[in-house]
Formats: sequence, C-alpha cells, structure tokens
Amino acid sequence: MSVEVRMKRVTTRDIRLRKGGDPIVVLTAYTAPIARLLDPHCDILLVGDSLGMVVYGMDTTLGVTLDMMINHGRAVVRSSSHACVVVDMPFGSYQESTEQAFRNSARVMAETGCAAVKLEGGREMADTIRFLTERGVPVMAHIGLKPQAVHAAGGFRAQGRAEAEAAQIRDDARAITEAGAFSVVVEGTVEPVARALSDEIAIPTIGIGASPACDGQVLVIDDVLGLFDDFTPKFVKRYADLRPMITQAVESYAAEVKARTFPGPEHCFGIAKK
Ligand code: KIV
Repeated sequence: MSVEVRMKRVTTRDIRLRKGGDPIVVLTAYTAPIARLLDPHCDILLVGDSLGMVVYGMDTTLGVTLDMMINHGRAVVRSSSHACVVVDMPFGSYQESTEQAFRNSARVMAETGCAAVKLEGGREMADTIRFLTERGVPVMAHIGLKPQAVHAAGGFRAQGRAEAEAAQIRDDARAITEAGAFSVVVEGTVEPVARALSDEIAIPTIGIGASPACDGQVLVIDDVLGLFDDFTPKFVKRYADLRPMITQAVESYAAEVKARTFPGPEHCFGIAKK
C-alpha cells in the first residue's frame, strides 16, 4: 500500500503570518525543471523579471514583456505544488494607472494560476497596491534598490546610506504596508535601514543584499548555482559552481559524437524507461 503525502501549498496569508517567525526561504524560478527541484525547499518561488537578464540575455529587466512573465509563470505554477508562486509585473505594465495595473495583474493571475504579483515601488505605488489588494490581487512590494528604475536612479548602488534616503525607504515600507501588501522585497539596502524597517512594519521583509536582519531572503537561482556570470553582486553567495560541470559534460558529449562512441538505440531504449 502506498501512502501519498500531499504538501499543502503555502498561501500569501501563511507568509504574512510568518512575520518575526521562521525565516522565509525564497528563490527565483523561471522554468519547469528548476521549479520542480526548488519547490520542496522554498516558501516562495518568485518568477522574477530578472529572467530578462539570466534567461534572455538582456542588459536590464526593462525589455521584459507581460507575455514572457505569463509563459514562465505558468511553467512554474504547473511544476510546483508546495511553494507560494509570485510573478513579477514587468516594467510598463502597472505604472500608468491603477486600472492598467489591475487589468494586467488580473491577467497574470488568471493565466498563470499564481498566488500573487510583485511590483516595484514605495509611496508612489501605495494607491495602486491598495486598488489591487481591495480587488483580490495579493501584492508583494519591492523597495530599496528598484532594478526597473535603474536609469532614473543612475545605476545600481546600495540604498539608505544617506539619512534622507534612509528615511524615504522607511516611509516607503510604511506606505506599502498600510496599502495592504502582504510582504515586501527590500533590495540592496544597508543593514541598519533594513533592520529598522523590519522592526517597524507588520509584514515580512524579504531581503536581497539587505542583510539577515530581514524576515527572509530571496536570491536569483542562477547566481546561487553559479550559472550567471555577467554580473554577480558582492552579497551573493554561490552555493554551487555548475558552469564547469556543464562544460565538462558537453565536452565529453562532443568527444563521443566525434569518435562515434556514444551508445546506440539498443542501449538507449533499455535505460530510458523509469
Ligand atoms: O526579478 C527578480 O528576480 C527580483 C528579485 C531579485 C527580488 O525582483
């Protein structure tokens, strides 16, 4: 007799209730095979618009479209059963008006089956967050360093060093909390500020380059596995180095093809069955 143990999917409410409790484990996932591997170990799988850079080879996230996010979101939801799946709203899909934000986030939720959307912004996005959450769209906010505003901000740099900037980030955190966000990503923010706002607000803070003072951490999976070499922020710890392993595997494969020493069909059909 086999006993099937089904894991209940983590909800946005579960995440909200983790404030000050067990740290929240978050990784990005963009594809089915990676989502399957990460799902049992993560509370949240974030289909981040970082996919523009790590999957599509873009220089920034600005060229990512709603259709890209929906296709990858669908793959991740389909290939997971435990983690709460959150899909990023890409640049230009929510900033114009509250109605535009609702129309596009409703499409993301309906077409992917995800639990929530993430959008970048603090005080300036509070009305939008309120509009969405009051209409059934759970929102994860994203403050501190905001990659979609990289040009306006004059590049990627740590946030909150100056007193005025630190105060603004804390105001952002309060505004998005009051607006109804269930959690917030705090990116590239100096530890004292990340700690202060984590203590101040009632929703979990998910840090990335924002110190262990947050309620959880998110990293880009390709950085964690050593697959993305174009630009790796200093705070990212690499937990594996898969590039040399992949290169070695591909070299062995190429050598076998050239030497005609790879297995024939009689061999393959025997081992292909699970
Ligand atoms: O797009 C993304 O992957 C993100 C995380 C890095 C927080 O926003």
